[in-house]
Amino acid sequence: MTTSFPPGFRWGVATSAFQIEGAIRSDGRGPSIWDTFAAVPGAIAGGDTGEPAADHYHRWRADLALLGDLGVDSYRFSVSWPRIQPDGRRAERRGLDFYRRLVEALREQEIEPFLTLYHWDLPQALEDDGGWRSRDTASRFADYAALVHEELGDVVDHWTTLNEPYPCAVAGYGEGRHAPGAREGHGALAAAHHLLLGHGLAVRAMRSQALPRHQFGIVLNQSPAIPVTDSAADAAAAARQDTLLRRQFTDPLFGGRYAPGLAAMFDGVSDFSFRHDGDLQTIAAPLDYLGVNYYYRLHVADAPHREPDPAQRTVTDIGVDTTRLPDVPRTGMGWPVEPEGLIEALVGLHNRYPGLPPMYVTENGCVYADRSDLADYERISFLSEHIEAARTAAAAGVDLRGYFCWSLLDNFEWAHGYQHRFGLVHVDYATQQRTPRASYRWYRDFIAAQR
Ligand code: FCB
Repeated sequence: MTTSFPPGFRWGVATSAFQIEGAIRSDGRGPSIWDTFAAVPGAIAGGDTGEPAADHYHRWRADLALLGDLGVDSYRFSVSWPRIQPDGRRAERRGLDFYRRLVEALREQEIEPFLTLYHWDLPQALEDDGGWRSRDTASRFADYAALVHEELGDVVDHWTTLNEPYPCAVAGYGEGRHAPGAREGHGALAAAHHLLLGHGLAVRAMRSQALPRHQFGIVLNQSPAIPVTDSAADAAAAARQDTLLRRQFTDPLFGGRYAPGLAAMFDGVSDFSFRHDGDLQTIAAPLDYLGVNYYYRLHVADAPHREPDPAQRTVTDIGVDTTRLPDVPRTGMGWPVEPEGLIEALVGLHNRYPGLPPMYVTENGCVYADRSDLADYERISFLSEHIEAARTAAAAGVDLRGYFCWSLLDNFEWAHGYQHRFGLVHVDYATQQRTPRASYRWYRDFIAAQR
């Protein structure tokens, strides 16, 4: 593999609070929507919950030692909103202190903290008031962001508002596969809008009190939609899918407009009255970086609507079939392994939005089913091929500043529970023993060779 990444390119790993911390009742933490959802029978594979996860809340020093040995210069993690504001409003000092200890220890190790404010764990109290259906949640999020930023702005420079608003809205409020488990069809469109509004309000609030060195960004999942044939119908289906998953977010953020096709796709179904004058300007607040999470491409064919009655359609019932996977290698989750999709995602954004801020690959990784063993050579191939794709995109002119592997540790993989293991480090959930895999040593040696 060539080593020609731009100077200063960052190498990191990513985690998120709910997926690794455990300790869901410690130090005044309030319940989040994922605690509530996990208690619903059948919601999570195996009946798994946020306990014990990797018990990172108690074992974070050991995990920072693993980061140190790995040799990463950057670490992407998230702050648990219900540790900071257990009821969505009142500040909990013990939660703030936890993250201060973590970040100060990172700084001592000369590892740059990339802090994400929202990686899906909404305080349950705010869900009880309407959650992301409600415009008020956007304001609550801005208040929370301003609080954390005020407390940690002396030690954190990289501030990410949201991780992947698409699944928050669509899986959470449209389909019910994720917390809060709402199957409200087009309710997902309002949730998506309020997430974007919350992002914009949070950036505004943090910028008003920021130091010049602070950087603000958002993380979006990017799955390019590829038509399975060159027919006009499949191309149109791919465009619809792309509008829902990507342009619903990237057009307001970076294009200064709502995605043109979105309202037309839901004409007569959703009235979009949740869009208020001035929202677009708030959402489009200039950013310092865009984080791209890339796992797979979506292969799309035109399909009849499952529900002939528009009023009965879910937000994803847009006449596309995303199950038509080509004959390519798959990961243990069934996701096609297509590193070229990462090039398409990065180059596509670069070409579509002039003035786009610099990008990072903020997540990329894989699982292989039933292979929780330590000799994870398939993961090494996966990472190596995707890093090469990132390099190709950078060489093609994309302003790419870093790459974060998902994930440092095995963790709670949302509705899949603990059965899928994304870690460079194996976690024995019974003993909490950490054991680095072959991929950990490979990534360590790879990073060392870049310096
Ligand atoms: C992403 C999420 C992350 C993790 C990976 C596998 O969509 O951001 O938390 O679950 O998928």
